[in-house]
Amino acid sequence: MECGADGPGVSGRVTAGQAADWFRSCYQAPPAGIWRAPGRVNLIGEHTDYNDGLVLPFALDRDLIVVGSRRADGVLEVRSRQAGGAARALKLAAIAPGRVSGWATYPAGVAWALRSAGIAVGGANLVIDSDLPQGAGLSSSAALACATALALTGLYGVAVPRTDLAALARTAEQEIAGVPCGIMDFCASLLGQPDHALLLDCASGAHEAVRLPLDPAGLRLLVIDTGTRHALADGRYAQRRQECERAAHTLGVRSLRAVTRESDLAGLPGTLRARARHVARENDRVRAAVLALRAGAISELGPLLTASHASLRDDFAVSWPQADIAVAASTGAGAVGARMMGGGFGGSVLALVPLADETTARAAVAAAFADHAWAAPSFLVARPSAGASRLA
Ligand code: GLA
Repeated sequence: MECGADGPGVSGRVTAGQAADWFRSCYQAPPAGIWRAPGRVNLIGEHTDYNDGLVLPFALDRDLIVVGSRRADGVLEVRSRQAGGAARALKLAAIAPGRVSGWATYPAGVAWALRSAGIAVGGANLVIDSDLPQGAGLSSSAALACATALALTGLYGVAVPRTDLAALARTAEQEIAGVPCGIMDFCASLLGQPDHALLLDCASGAHEAVRLPLDPAGLRLLVIDTGTRHALADGRYAQRRQECERAAHTLGVRSLRAVTRESDLAGLPGTLRARARHVARENDRVRAAVLALRAGAISELGPLLTASHASLRDDFAVSWPQADIAVAASTGAGAVGARMMGGGFGGSVLALVPLADETTARAAVAAAFADHAWAAPSFLVARPSAGASRLA
């Protein structure tokens, strides 16, 4: 693969070996290491992470790789195949909130967050490739931040616990990319395990792997990319966060995690009450989902997913028409449950489908989209997979 070019005939993500060749053609030297970080699917627990709540995501078998080596001049040079392969060179000392734009804010932000925390990383050349669709709600940007964090700490030989790396990657995304996201996506990418979901308590940071054996149960988790694109930085996500903070403040509690009974909400005005109700009930649904998984009753997740969707649509008001239709069409054609996933206003729907109904469910969603004259949705089978790692 030529430096700066998209490599003829290479689609999807290149292999680690091809990416190393790409690095060599750019820098006339072999890379010092290759790291990968996956995207994530959130099974259940939406808009709970920044409310100190519970989430149950898993790492996806789609990922992003970073091939890199150190450089001594305090410059971070990054190239991404998804951004056409052109180099962006950033002086580490000049990286600060508001100073970097575009996709490079993510790797730059990570370098800034690590250094601001006193972690001694320096300049680097990084080439990046991914097979994660962007804006589909699969956390491609968190994968970029996590892979960069592993690459920089790996290149400079500093050991940082993964939960700390997750917190630093979130700081990077919040401060440098200006996205007020929670901790879930980074934890899923860094802590995921094959065939398991990750139960994460965002208040304490406690986490536990919960078995999610889909194949033996004859079930599939289907990600339906509705084709509608979202931007967490567009203000609506931040608005929901503020509403939750206002609700907690009005109730006199530190966060909405403290709300456990419906009667606790009585003192809130209409909209804030609906937002807080979603958060409290969603935490309960995560608990119920974990109990179902521990009991080996995976299909019991179905009604919980569909209830989560209704709550995100009606109480939290973050769904969008294509998501509502994808949920209705898939559950009408055999899915045992389905819901919108991620921040909302665009991205993907997750459907839990018996293997025998998968073809019918896909066809029903495609037909419903065609009826609305919407572009065809795309589908991806989500397999709970390993978290981020060093490949070479
Ligand atoms: C986005 C954010 C996450 C989380 C979800 C909603 O994906 O990045 O931190 O808040 O929205 O659950």
